[in-house]
Amino acid sequence: MPLDDDDVVPLPPPVHRSVLLDEVVQWLLPREGAVIVDGTIGAGGHAAALAALVGKTGRVIGLDRDPDMLALAGVATKGLPVSLVQDAYSDLPRILDRLEIDQVDGILLDLGLSSDQLRWAERGFSFVTDGPLDMRFDPNSHTTAADLVNELTAEELADVIFEYGEERHSRRIARRIVEERRVVPITTTARLADIVRKSVPGKWGTIDPATRTFQALRIKVNEELDHLETILAEGPEFLKPGGRIAIISFHSLEDRRVKHSFRNDPNLNVLTKKPVVASDEELAINPRARSAKLRVAERCPDTNGPTTPPKQGTSKAR
Ligand SMILES: C[S@@+](CC[C@H](N)C(=O)[O-])C[C@H]1O[C@@H](n2cnc3c(N)ncnc32)[C@H](O)[C@@H]1O
Repeated sequence: MPLDDDDVVPLPPPVHRSVLLDEVVQWLLPREGAVIVDGTIGAGGHAAALAALVGKTGRVIGLDRDPDMLALAGVATKGLPVSLVQDAYSDLPRILDRLEIDQVDGILLDLGLSSDQLRWAERGFSFVTDGPLDMRFDPNSHTTAADLVNELTAEELADVIFEYGEERHSRRIARRIVEERRVVPITTTARLADIVRKSVPGKWGTIDPATRTFQALRIKVNEELDHLETILAEGPEFLKPGGRIAIISFHSLEDRRVKHSFRNDPNLNVLTKKPVVASDEELAINPRARSAKLRVAERCPDTNGPTTPPKQGTSKAR
């Protein structure tokens, strides 16, 4: 539902740094008067940059499932032409219908979670600080990570951890979780992280052994890949001819889907033959940008077939 100004409470400044900010602006080409959907507005960094360029005659429609993130976005975009809506980007057709908008000039998705959500221990995304095992973007959605960990069978758990975490020790981890929950239900992030670390053989590599299991549970709790597949299938229809869709993904499960869907959509012309990645300057100040990949496609004109893609930007491409 749309938020009023009164719903937006001042909060401490966000810690999240928007990734590939210049590149997003460069590829989405927000003109004066354009209407752009930021489907994952988060702390509002991308939205504020886009809104400044669309001017008073344009608009950015900022969506997020998380009301706490919308509150941060409200602060970052105060005074700019931004409408905030608490909803999932996969509901775009319904949201645009409610706003009486047929088609838009651009759609941006910056997938995954924000550094702010990660630092809020009570939201249960972090294995570094202890908190309740929650992980829901939308606090009103049904299933928490604790529900999955305590209720799925060992086989179902192993499948989730393997499929969404690409974790080769998934069966071992799932067996251990089931053994431990028989003693006492697993309800905190620190206990789960500890169980996962104890299940993985050998010394730690460069990443904490809990990383993949936490990623898998978060993806499953929030049905992240289902949302992505829905927007990939339905989003391009809501772009004006020449309108652009830009998606930043952070792991191969997402990037693979974006790449194939853009490539196989007859209404889209892929502009980034290779994904755009962060410059060395950005990596030096924002390590989170390391795994970010930006892909952009343009809606073909209705009658004349695909347009010629512009030259790939100056940023590095992989
Ligand atoms: C990486 S952050 C976005 C950061 C933002 N671009 C910025 O500049 O601050 C991703 C945001 O997407 C939100 N999100 C995740 N899945 C969503 C979905 N299906 N629909 C809407 N928002 C979603 C998360 O709650 C989070 O706030």
